Amino acid sequence: MSLIASDASALGADHIKPAVEVVMMAAGKGTRMKSNKPKVLQMLAHLPLAGHALEAARSVDARKVVVVTGHGSDQVEPALARLAGAINLEFVRQEPQLGTGHAVQTAAPCLADDALVLVLSGDVPLTRATTLQALLQLSAGQHLALLTVNLPDPSGYGRVVRKGDSVTAIVEHKDASEQERAIREIYGGILAAPAALLKRWLSRLDNNNVQGEYYLTDVVKLAVQDGVQVLAHRIDDPLEVAGVNSPAQLAELERAYQLRLANALMEQGVRLKDPARIDVRGFLSCARDVEIDVGCVFEGRVQLGDEVRIGPHCVLANCSIEAGSIIQAFTHIDGESLGVRVGADARIGPFARLRPGADLGADVHIGNFVEIKNTRLARGAKANHLAYLGDSTVGERVNFGAGSITANYDGANKHQTVIEDDVHVGSNCVLIAPVTLGAGGTIGGGSTITKDTPAGALTVARGKQVSVANWKRPVKGAKK
Ligand code: UD1
Ligand code: CA
Repeated sequence: MSLIASDASALGADHIKPAVEVVMMAAGKGTRMKSNKPKVLQMLAHLPLAGHALEAARSVDARKVVVVTGHGSDQVEPALARLAGAINLEFVRQEPQLGTGHAVQTAAPCLADDALVLVLSGDVPLTRATTLQALLQLSAGQHLALLTVNLPDPSGYGRVVRKGDSVTAIVEHKDASEQERAIREIYGGILAAPAALLKRWLSRLDNNNVQGEYYLTDVVKLAVQDGVQVLAHRIDDPLEVAGVNSPAQLAELERAYQLRLANALMEQGVRLKDPARIDVRGFLSCARDVEIDVGCVFEGRVQLGDEVRIGPHCVLANCSIEAGSIIQAFTHIDGESLGVRVGADARIGPFARLRPGADLGADVHIGNFVEIKNTRLARGAKANHLAYLGDSTVGERVNFGAGSITANYDGANKHQTVIEDDVHVGSNCVLIAPVTLGAGGTIGGGSTITKDTPAGALTVARGKQVSVANWKRPVKGAKK
């Protein structure tokens, strides 16, 4: 305690900064999505729209997030609760939905009087953390701060009426005069205000307007009446306040989000063949000199080491690819919860499939139409064509032939196959697990192996080849 007290910075502005509490409005229906799923649960990259708003709340260290639900609340609430992590989430239900002012009124009893309230919408996914921080700073725990932006076509939005640096009103499009409609600065739907003041204004809202709704935006004129300054933080990028109302808008924001990530990757030095043709639905981390061709999708957590190259149209999920490896076109890798590791200088694909628990050492080669699941391959092992390895341990330099498989599943249980160092498995072999192939052994093509094989030996387990000389084929209609 004394240590903290003697630290000057702990007593500075940071120390007295009021705690932030977020209200997330998420009661709207989203009719134009034409979906059975509530609008705020539509996915943008790896998160539902409201999940992005939740991340925004996390980015400003919100002490609490009060989510206002209505349409689809029994789907929205559990979905958000799963994403909350350390965030303290509370849900309030707004039934019926009488407007944005009414939505925040519904949340008001959950807000502490000493908090700084940040109002967000569950359908606005691309607001930057730095923007929200600037808005909270502008409010400084005493003013009403609005996020605004200039639009070439402001129709439909609330117009920001100013007197110098201060804002005097927000007028909704439908209520606006000709003159007000000419204003191009619009309210972006996000504001910050001290809770005690906000509650006072909310209690005085009415619905005497064209839409007969309780407008949150009317708090501006009430603040002015109370002599509280209303300030605008005007940003340049309209995407930061863009909401989603239709599948087309959802797709537009998805591309904008992806372009942001692509630009960030390129700034770190990643070479993207086309920044418009990559999708990251999760977290992609890249070391130096990584190259990614077009049409790749990354999901969950993916790590790419130095000089890794990803060919066109690959899907990589929950995996780590170590330095110098090449993943060729149309390869599908998904580690799910177990993960997949590809060691250094490996060569995977084209058309390879690595499943959970694939753990590949350095210099491993996996070729076309080869599937690997829950299997460890040691350095230099190769399976180049049309093969399946499941629940196996494969030694160094093993060569696994075309068309060969491990029969690891007996219909009830999974069994292990062990292939020791330097074994060569010919083409079209079936290894019936549990079974161990001794080091340096060779398995003749077409063998069905049911027993362990000795080290160094050639093992052949197939019908002997016989030839019948001068064999006459049957002839149609011939007499017996
Ligand atoms: C609102 C603003 C407008 C601003 C625009 C920016 C008001 C009155 N107007 O208009 O000035 O330019 O956002 O996008 O606030 N919601 C509820 N309960 C309700 C009504 C709405 O939870 O009763 C939610 C919606 O689901 C949505 C958000 O609040 O997430 C905003 O509502 P919306 O109807 O989109 O507001 P706009 O009319 O677009
Ligand atoms: Ca809207």
